[in-house]
Amino acid sequence: MTIAITHTAFGGPEVLTPTEVALPPLGATDVAVRIEAAGVNPVDHKLRSGQRASDPITTPRHVGNDGAGVVTAVGPDVTGFRVGDRVVITGALGTYASELVVSQEALFPRPPQVSAAEGAALGIPIGTAYQTVRSLAVGPEDTVLVHAGSGAVGQAVIQFAVLAGARVLATTSDRRADRVRALGAEPVSYAPGIADRVRAAAPDGVTVAIDLAGTDEALDSSVELVADRRRIATLVRGADADALGIQAFRGGSPRPLTAREEAWRRESIPVALHLLAVGAFSVELGPALPLAEAAEAHRVVEAGVDGKVVLVP
Ligand SMILES: NC(=O)c1ccc[n+]([C@@H]2O[C@H](COP(=O)([O-])OP(=O)(O)OC[C@H]3O[C@@H](n4cnc5c(N)ncnc54)[C@H](OP(=O)(O)O)[C@@H]3O)[C@@H](O)[C@H]2O)c1
Repeated sequence: MTIAITHTAFGGPEVLTPTEVALPPLGATDVAVRIEAAGVNPVDHKLRSGQRASDPITTPRHVGNDGAGVVTAVGPDVTGFRVGDRVVITGALGTYASELVVSQEALFPRPPQVSAAEGAALGIPIGTAYQTVRSLAVGPEDTVLVHAGSGAVGQAVIQFAVLAGARVLATTSDRRADRVRALGAEPVSYAPGIADRVRAAAPDGVTVAIDLAGTDEALDSSVELVADRRRIATLVRGADADALGIQAFRGGSPRPLTAREEAWRRESIPVALHLLAVGAFSVELGPALPLAEAAEAHRVVEAGVDGKVVLVP
């Protein structure tokens, strides 16, 4: 048996309920993982509330795509994982649980230098950031503007863009300016007047813009500042991208990711795990809450919090 967080209706955080459920039988290439930490992402509360469209709920819906833990059992055809291995999980459904059966495709070996909480913080934010930086072909000639640079995805975008050799400007609250500066970006307040402040900071212009804020001003200033609209991407306002002639990667876009984009998202996890293990990458952790307090974790994330919130069974 496992304790899993499920819900049977769309609604507020209170619909999230700890439930005792039987683990499914292990398929040939499945792995059972004792979850040590589950990452809470904004998409989790958007799906829970119905803000992000999804299929109707017909059976109790499990929550969470990212996590980290230890392998407790492997199917007969599993290669590369053994009982006792530390792993990172991404692309699975139901990581808000004490134990989970997943395909081996959802697992990555976790080096000892990477904590369970750090591992659980990787999946969606790192995959999104890395794929976006690769899709926009960010390189040493670029000056990149990242909107919402202090968030989980924004911090990863800054680091991948800096590693690619780009100059990076990141919008942030004044309170969080030091954090984005520590990652190698130049902070720009996201108070009204973004475009003017960016022009003053980068008079030679901006070549790439990445929207993780989803505000009208983030989109308007990006279009105003970047000449080539194919080098502007929104991760939040996907439904508006076509009208603006900019790119969107999920975030409500009707266009699914390409196979290449999906592959970049997967590739990002071993890349980040290696960088973390050698001390060349940083993941900011927020509060760790008990699994049973998943509803409170959603309230905390929806209200805005510094660092990645994780649930600990
Ligand atoms: N399309 C995709 O595949 C994809 C994947 C992952 C995430 N996303 C989306 O991307 C967004 C960011 O995700 P996340 O995980 O990074 O969220 P997060 O960690 O919760 O960070 C959100 C950030 O937004 C900043 N912010 C708040 N108001 C802002 C404003 N008016 N202008 C600029 N920044 C503002 C906050 O900065 P301060 O603390 O400095 O105020 C905070 O750091 C979410 O909407 C999420 O759903 C999309």
